[in-house]
Amino acid sequence: MSREIRFNAFAMNCVGHQSPGLWRHPRDRSAEYRHLHHWLELARTLERGRFDGIFLADVLGVYDVYGGTPDAALRSAAQVPANDPLLLVPAMAAVTEHLGFGVTSTLTYEPPFPFARRMSTLDHLTGGRVGWNIVTGYLASAARAAGGEKLIAHDDRYDIADEYMELVYRLWEESWDADAVRCDRQAGIFTDPAKVRPIRHEGAHFRLDAIHLSEPSPQRTPVLYQAGSSPRGRAFAGRHAECVFVSGPSTAVIGPRVAAIREAVRAAGRDPAAVRIFSMMTVILGATDAEAAAKLAEYRSHVSHEGALALMSGWTGVDFSRLSLDDEVRHVENDAGRTAMDNITRADPDRVWTVREVAEHVGIGGIGPVVTGGPETVANAIEAWVDSTGVDGLNLCYAVMPETFEEIADLLVPELTRRGRYKRAYTTGSLREKLFGEGPRLALPHPAARTRPVTA
Ligand SMILES: Cc1cc2nc3c(=O)[nH]c(=O)nc-3n(C[C@H](O)[C@H](O)[C@H](O)COP(=O)(O)O)c2cc1C
Repeated sequence: MSREIRFNAFAMNCVGHQSPGLWRHPRDRSAEYRHLHHWLELARTLERGRFDGIFLADVLGVYDVYGGTPDAALRSAAQVPANDPLLLVPAMAAVTEHLGFGVTSTLTYEPPFPFARRMSTLDHLTGGRVGWNIVTGYLASAARAAGGEKLIAHDDRYDIADEYMELVYRLWEESWDADAVRCDRQAGIFTDPAKVRPIRHEGAHFRLDAIHLSEPSPQRTPVLYQAGSSPRGRAFAGRHAECVFVSGPSTAVIGPRVAAIREAVRAAGRDPAAVRIFSMMTVILGATDAEAAAKLAEYRSHVSHEGALALMSGWTGVDFSRLSLDDEVRHVENDAGRTAMDNITRADPDRVWTVREVAEHVGIGGIGPVVTGGPETVANAIEAWVDSTGVDGLNLCYAVMPETFEEIADLLVPELTRRGRYKRAYTTGSLREKLFGEGPRLALPHPAARTRPVTA
């Protein structure tokens, strides 16, 4: 039987997320990101489309690699201005019942103790619907904003992340016994002190001696997402990730990457089939193929090529303003993200990219593919993509906000549902239960469950 296809919506608390320049489109409302009504409407739309979740990206720096200044990013609203993603979550949770919230937080710049509490708070307020996209940051501007001089070396960031994870797992999973909170009015005991234990950690990068401040939340550890696909990134995902986000322009790039991630999960002693992998895609829908093609052409007239190259320069750490539009992109290794550079160089040896092609491609939906057509055409393309790459679902970008998501919910979801490839209804329970069907908490052999006392 064909596997069910899962949808995540990919957004960011900013104007131009993966489609720089499209904020100029007359129907685009992404400039309203500062207002709650914008997010509440989006959350309702996504729940109508039975999306598993909304994945909120975040970067703590500005895209200033292009030309050595933030000017191009600022002009084109390429992920700047950008507000905090976590603060949107309780409001969206209040108007939905099932939608999950995958929020990005850069652990390099977030001390583990307050971060662990913030995530526990969200897990409480959402009734166990929160996930964390674990990122280490690829922008030198973020490193400078945090007081550093340059990016921490690529693989070292993941080493620090491994230690960070051990620490936050212990705060979430180990500090409080499941029955520590008694709320016993008669005895005058809210929490039984014998059932709360301090976490003491002394490692290469972090020291801590504290009890977790939040009482146990439904999932304890939020659902763990990860999105780095370099060899070191895959090793990290193999150990920690429950869901992995990948992005690339073609099945030729994504298929082998998915296999490599599942192999890393197997090498870490976990079940590779149990990890949910989502690849990035943008779909442009119309009532007919012709209508959708016309819509795409019209969208393209609003793309900011400068904004696209500002994004690509930030992702790869390479200043594309120094190249001419007809130059071929050559592989460079540095401390920015490795996969973004691989996507347009060696990930598909049969495909050579010029700078112009990168600017045009990235202008709608970043480095992911753009699939255009009526509902049947798009559903065919999605089925073929999912079946040939082995992903579990898609991380869907918008071109025009919220039009792209409304059309997915109203045109595409019914078509995939009719084909038996999309859920007819949400199941109950936490985000983890919805994704994996078991309990709300992480189970062995995941490392979060490994050190947990039986009482916690
Ligand atoms: C779909 C997707 C979404 C991502 N979202 C973010 C994000 O919101 N914030 C961030 O700092 N990095 C984000 N990243 C970047 C990754 O976390 C990672 O830094 C990058 O892929 C480079 O890692 P690598 O060198 O191991 O491949 C994302 C990557 C992908 C593929």
